[in-house]
Amino acid sequence: MKSSTEKNKHRKIKWKNLGVLLLFLFIIVWIIIGIYLLNHKSVDKKLEEQGYNKNEILSIRKYISEKDLEILLDYSYHETILHILEEENFQEENLKKYLDFLKRYPLATSDDVVFLINRDLEDITYTPDIHTILHHKDFKEEYLSQYLEYYQKNAVDGNQVILDINNKNQPEKPKEPEDKNESSPKEDVPTVEDNTSLFLGREYTIQKNLSRYNAYYQKHKDLDIDEIITRVNSNLDKEFYVDTTPTDLSKGDLIIANKYYYLGKDYVPDNLVSINSTYGNAGQQVKEVAYNAFIEMYNAALKENLHLYISSPYRSYSRQSTLYNNYVKRDGKKEADTYSARPGFSEHQTGLAMDLSTASNHSIDDFEKSKEFTWTVKHAYEYGFILRYPKGKEYITGYIYEPWHYRYVGKEVAKYIYEHDITYEEYYEFFVK
Ligand code: DAL
Ligand code: ZN
Repeated sequence: MKSSTEKNKHRKIKWKNLGVLLLFLFIIVWIIIGIYLLNHKSVDKKLEEQGYNKNEILSIRKYISEKDLEILLDYSYHETILHILEEENFQEENLKKYLDFLKRYPLATSDDVVFLINRDLEDITYTPDIHTILHHKDFKEEYLSQYLEYYQKNAVDGNQVILDINNKNQPEKPKEPEDKNESSPKEDVPTVEDNTSLFLGREYTIQKNLSRYNAYYQKHKDLDIDEIITRVNSNLDKEFYVDTTPTDLSKGDLIIANKYYYLGKDYVPDNLVSINSTYGNAGQQVKEVAYNAFIEMYNAALKENLHLYISSPYRSYSRQSTLYNNYVKRDGKKEADTYSARPGFSEHQTGLAMDLSTASNHSIDDFEKSKEFTWTVKHAYEYGFILRYPKGKEYITGYIYEPWHYRYVGKEVAKYIYEHDITYEEYYEFFVK
């Protein structure tokens, strides 16, 4: 028989072993947690190095599991990546495909990327026309493959693709029974009325727009003929940010950027010069030709004891992207679109636009109240500048009235635009394109 002291000794050893085991387990658990935290931190750090800020990393973690986070590290920072994660139909298993597609087509929009990849269309050649097709108001998903095939075979634009394929799929109208009575007049099937003659010989008629004027007229018969010409010439029969094309870079100082014409992600104007602190926000840049014209205007204003100041000149694609995305976060996309251009679509990226203020108050919001503004409205054209987003023309420019935003176009063009009170949209389509 074992003595009670022996039994106690035995029990103590048992408890001791259990304690050691627990301690061991405890340490193991902490080591695992430690490794996890260290790893977590190091991924965050790498993402930060990649260009994501802390808030963006938090948001990324909401959409992607830990194991897939590292995929992001193989791709350079791109604002659209964040929007892709937020898309309603985002699928984590497609992450790599989304990112590869975006790498090939950096101008693709997040909804297009998700839409195409979710349908295994990663091999498609993405163009602005594809975007037009996917966003067209008459787009029907059941015809998607027909649209794409037709677009690839025929060099037609996105709108035409939708029109032709939708028409092709229209059920054939049952034929009218043949009228045996030869003498009774046949009723004509109503087609689109031809009123193109109304638009001939007007001041701003563009011959190749005749059928578009006619189509617009059918829907807006209450409008004045010249107003229809203005609207169609300014592309208002198309949808902002849907019917887009790359802008023609060969137009030099007359290049246009608006809600239809965009600059590439990598477009950086040549001949950018740094602004001297006498004239504006030092360190910022603007195109030399616009800078010289500004200095001439600045000196003329100075003679009247007025002090102009450049608050915001050239803005890169990524700077515009940051600004626009912040506005969207603050006010929502619809509101932001009324006052800020989407990245790639801003005139500031041309290096020919500048937001003006005064030397004593750099806030562009106060410029309209200043004597400098009153002077600039009257005289800017003499130095080659136009007020780019005027009051009353919001529906044409697509932006609210911006008393501070001036655009260099050269003296001759500025004088014409000032004297004829037209927008740059109208001028460009009629004289430049
Ligand atoms: N505020 C003008 C429209 C821009 O963002 O370019
Ligand atoms: Zn501006």
